[in-house]
Amino acid sequence: MNIAVLPGDGIGPEIVAQAMRVLQRLRDDGLKLEFEFADVGGTAYERHGHPLPPATLALAQGADAVLFGAVGDPRFDRLERALRPEQAILGLRKKLGLFANLRPAILYPELAQASSLKPEVVSGLDILIVRELTGDIYFGQPRGRRDAPDGAFAGQPEAFDTMRYSRPEIERIAHVAFQAARTRKAAGHAGRVTSVDKANVLETFQFWKDVVTEVHAQYPDIELEHMYVDNAAMQLVRAPKKFDVVVTGNMFGDILSDEAAMLTGSIGMLPSASLNEQGRGLYEPSHGSAPDIAGRGLANPLATILSAAMMLRYSLGQPEAAQRVEKAVRDVLRQGLRTADIAEPGQPSVGTEAMGDAVVAALG
Ligand code: IPM
Ligand code: MG
Repeated sequence: MNIAVLPGDGIGPEIVAQAMRVLQRLRDDGLKLEFEFADVGGTAYERHGHPLPPATLALAQGADAVLFGAVGDPRFDRLERALRPEQAILGLRKKLGLFANLRPAILYPELAQASSLKPEVVSGLDILIVRELTGDIYFGQPRGRRDAPDGAFAGQPEAFDTMRYSRPEIERIAHVAFQAARTRKAAGHAGRVTSVDKANVLETFQFWKDVVTEVHAQYPDIELEHMYVDNAAMQLVRAPKKFDVVVTGNMFGDILSDEAAMLTGSIGMLPSASLNEQGRGLYEPSHGSAPDIAGRGLANPLATILSAAMMLRYSLGQPEAAQRVEKAVRDVLRQGLRTADIAEPGQPSVGTEAMGDAVVAALG
C-alpha cells in the first residue's frame, strides 16, 4: 500500500513525523506500507513556485491514500489567491474528487475537564459531522475578482463568490450521511441525520433540503431532521449529545466542525477523512498549521495519529491496525499524558515528541 505523505506548513511536519513513527512501527510489525514524501502549501511555493506542484499532485493521485499535515502561513497572505498555501488542499480535494469529509467529534472521558463546557453536557459525546467538500461557495462560479499581482483589490468596487450546488452533489453526500447513520445505529447510536441548511434565506439551501429529503425515502430506518445553521451552532453548545450524524455543505461544515471540535476539549484531538467515490482518501487533522507554535515542539500530534488510524480503516482495509492505534491513544490519555492544549490549569504537559513516544510505547 502506497501512502503519499504531505507534511506541509507550520506544525505540519512536526505532527506528521509522530504519525509516521506510529505507521513505521506497524510496518515493522508486518503491515505492507510504502511511504513517499512531497512538498505542499507554502513550503512547496517556496521551493517550486506553486503550492500544489504537478509532482505532488501526481504522487497523491497515484497513491492508495494521502496523509496530510496542514497548510497555511501568514507570510503568503498577500499572494494572489491561486498561489496561496490553502489552494493546495482545495486543489487536492477537487482534483481527487474528495467530496465526503468525515469529521468525528468524540470526547474521550479522560478529557472531560478540558472541554470549555460542563462535563455533564459533553461527557459521552460521539457525533459525526459529514461535510460536503468540493462544492458550495468554496468552488462557485463566477467568482470575482482580485487580479492585481500583489493580491490587492486596486480600488475595485466589489467582490463576490457564488454559492451553488448541483443535485448529484447533494445526493451523493446525503447517501454518505444516511449510510454512516445506519452503520452507527448498528453500534448503538440513535440512527438520526440532522441536515443543516439556511433554507429560510438561500435558494441553494432550499434545494439542498429538498434533495436530502428525497434521498431519505431510501432510508426508512433512519430519522431525518432539518435544522437552520444558526440554530445548529447554538444547539451544538447547548445540547451537543442530541446530535448523531450532521450533514451539511462545505461552508457551514467548515464552521460547525471547528465548533464541534472544541466541544471535545481541543481541536488538537480531531482527525478527519476526505473520501472520493472510490473510497480512496486524504487524511488530515481537522486543525490548521498553527504558525504561532510551529517549530517549538508544542503541538498535539494526536489528531494526526488518529487520522492515520482512519486511513488504515477507510482506505487501507486494516480495521485491526486502526483499533490498535486508537487504543494506544486512549491508553496514553488514561496514563495522564497531556500536551499543553489539553492539560488542565496547573497540570504538567509534554511536547509533541514525548506524546509520540508514549503512543508508540502504548502500541505494545
Ligand atoms: C479546513 C480548513 C480549510 C477549509 C482551509 C485551510 C482551506 O479550514 O479543512 O477546515 O476551509 O476547508
Ligand atoms: Mg476549517
